[in-house]
Amino acid sequence: MVDKKIVFSKGEIQKRVKTLGEKISKDYAGQPLILIGILNGAFIFMADLVRQVNLPVEIDFVRVSSYGNHAHSSGVISFTKDIELDITNKNVLLVEDIVDTGRTISHLKEIIAARQPRSIKICTLIDKKERREIEVEIDYQGFAVDHGFLVGYGLDYAEQHRHYPEIYHLLNPE
Ligand code: IMP
Ligand code: MG
Repeated sequence: MVDKKIVFSKGEIQKRVKTLGEKISKDYAGQPLILIGILNGAFIFMADLVRQVNLPVEIDFVRVSSYGNHAHSSGVISFTKDIELDITNKNVLLVEDIVDTGRTISHLKEIIAARQPRSIKICTLIDKKERREIEVEIDYQGFAVDHGFLVGYGLDYAEQHRHYPEIYHLLNPE
């Protein structure tokens, strides 16, 4: 049986996502923005966030595979799906589910930044600092979590649990 403990309720998540969307709308005030969601984990967060952003917005997605596993992501990433929009001279916001070691998002930011966007920022639903290896500047953060493996609201463990409306701490992942 899967043992899990609730960390963030549906209501808490909705409230926080609304606040993030309002902050983003205010910071970019009237400027067009491209949101790039990182699949698969960010799909629910992205869908909720975009509906709280009051700007001329376009969306796209990337899917990356990192060589490694949950226990250790190497940070060497390759695209299994690249973005399709031209981001040259555009404001870009990377939308991630969770930043853990920081390797995935920092490598992705480097790759996207090389394509000459006008600006590039990072928005993550969860900032998990326990295993940070690479210093990353997170511009928008939903929640900070000290430790543990989280599932639900897009987050998976071995592709399971993504569909829960809440976020849980998985107590016995092995
Ligand atoms: P990083 O390169 O270590 O920052 O890896 C971040 C990626 O690992 C995230 O995009 C998630 O897919 C995955 N990940 C890290 N921690 C968790 C967790 O607690 N739950 C689910 N996925 C996680
Ligand atoms: Mg992910």
